[in-house]
Amino acid sequence: MTHSPETPAVTPGKFVTFEGIDGAGKSTHVNAFVDTLRQGLAAVERNVVATREPGGTPLGEALRKLVLDEPMALETEALLMFAGRREHLVKVIEPALARGDWVVSDRFTDATFAYQGGGRGLSDEKLTILERWVQGTRQPDLTILFDLDPAIAAARLAGARAPDKFERESAAFFTRVREAYLRRAEASPERFVVIDAAQSIDAIAAKLAGVFARLGVPGHVAR
Ligand code: ADP
Ligand code: TYD
Repeated sequence: MTHSPETPAVTPGKFVTFEGIDGAGKSTHVNAFVDTLRQGLAAVERNVVATREPGGTPLGEALRKLVLDEPMALETEALLMFAGRREHLVKVIEPALARGDWVVSDRFTDATFAYQGGGRGLSDEKLTILERWVQGTRQPDLTILFDLDPAIAAARLAGARAPDKFERESAAFFTRVREAYLRRAEASPERFVVIDAAQSIDAIAAKLAGVFARLGVPGHVAR
C-alpha cells in the first residue's frame, strides 16, 4: 500500500512532558516512568524517546550550558530556550512522533512560561508569540506537573547537588514559578495531570501508574 503525503504511514506517537519547580521530585520519577512506558509499548512495537530541555540535541546541550551558567538579559534567555526548542522539535521530537515513537521530555515550553514568565517577569504575550512561531500548533499530549511548596523543594535540594543559576534563585522566585505553572494547568486542564509532590515517593509512583491507563498504554487499565 502506498501513502500520500497527507496520510501518515503510522498513527503518530504521543508527546508527554514532565514539569515542576527545582527539587519537586521530577528526576526521581522520570526514568522509571520511561522504563514502564517502554515495556508497555513494546507490545505494539512502539519506541520511546526520552529527552530533555534545555537540551535534547548537541546544539541544545551546548545552549543548556550557557543558559544554566551564564548571566544574560531576560529576553536573551527566553530566546535561547526557544532556539534550543526549535532545534529539538525539528531534529528529534517531530521526526519521532511522525514515525510513531512516543516522546517523553523532562521539561518543555511550560517551563519557559513558568521560569522566564512567572519567575522573571517576561510577558505571556511575548512568550505566546514565540511559542506559536517555534511550535506552530504542537503541544504535549500530556503534561505531568509536580506541584510543591518551594520551601519543601528547597529543603530537599539543600546539599543534594551544586545549584545552577536557577536553583540559586529566591523562595519568592520559586513561588512565582509555581503559580505560573498552576495557571498553565488551569488554562489547559485536559492536558495536565497535577501531582501533589509533597507525598511520599511511593505514593507519587502509584499516581503515575494511573497515567499509563489514561494514555492508553497496553497492559494498563484504569483503576
Ligand atoms: P527535581 O528533578 O524535580 O529537581 P529530584 O527528583 O532531583 O527533583 O529530587 C530532589 C531531591 O528530593 C532528591 O534528593 C530526591 O531524592 C528527593 N525527593 C524526591 N522526591 C521526594 C519525595 N516525594 N519525598 C521526599 N524527598 C524526595
Ligand atoms: P532541569 O534539567 O530540570 O534541571 P535539573 O536536571 O538540574 O533538575 O532544568 C534546568 C533548569 O532550567 C531549571 O531550573 C529550569 C530551567 N528552565 C527554564 O528556566 N526555562 C525553560 O524553558 C526550561 C526548559 C528550563
